[in-house]
Amino acid sequence: MKRRVAVLISGNGSNLQALIDAAKEENYPAQIVLVISNKPQAYGLKRAATAHIPALVIEHGAYATREEFDRAVHAALMDAHVEILCLAGFMRLLSPWFVAQWQGRMLNIHPSLLPAFKGAHAVRDALAAGVTKTGCTVHVVTEAVDAGPVVAQAEVAVLPGDTEESLKLRIHEAEHRLYPAALKVLAGR
Ligand code: GAR
Repeated sequence: MKRRVAVLISGNGSNLQALIDAAKEENYPAQIVLVISNKPQAYGLKRAATAHIPALVIEHGAYATREEFDRAVHAALMDAHVEILCLAGFMRLLSPWFVAQWQGRMLNIHPSLLPAFKGAHAVRDALAAGVTKTGCTVHVVTEAVDAGPVVAQAEVAVLPGDTEESLKLRIHEAEHRLYPAALKVLAGR
């Protein structure tokens, strides 16, 4: 039986697309059954529609507290019998309550070789630091931000003349290979 996976997004959803594409493989151990965006204009919603995957917009602005928003997301995940959750460019912090519900069953992808360059500007920070290699990490989500156990990492070279955009593009290519591989590991356990 394929594991039931939901993907949380806030934007473009290129990693969502990589997961959708990987899950089309007959022997892939997971299926994407739900996409949730906290932003109504997220392009990833179109990707979900194209793939005929149910998608919901749950706007955080409609909730008084972080935990109320998280409870609405959790209820939608329960309704869809979701077993594993993938954060893919989901740019909101989750409450300790929510993280506890999904302990060991929630992955995040981050555009650096964690523990280096945590936070929302990982690519910019890596460029500013002058490192010659950076990369991406898929990790299990724990309460501490960008700090849970690493499932998989991929290195990406920083090239002379790289801009934030060019480096981001190269990291994205690595992410699109890494995330499906990491989800396969967790779903196959
Ligand atoms: C990805 O590069 C992901 O690593 C990053 O957002 C991008 C989303 O792209 N996540 C973070 O920075 C989390 N702190 P996508 O919407 O095209 O998948």
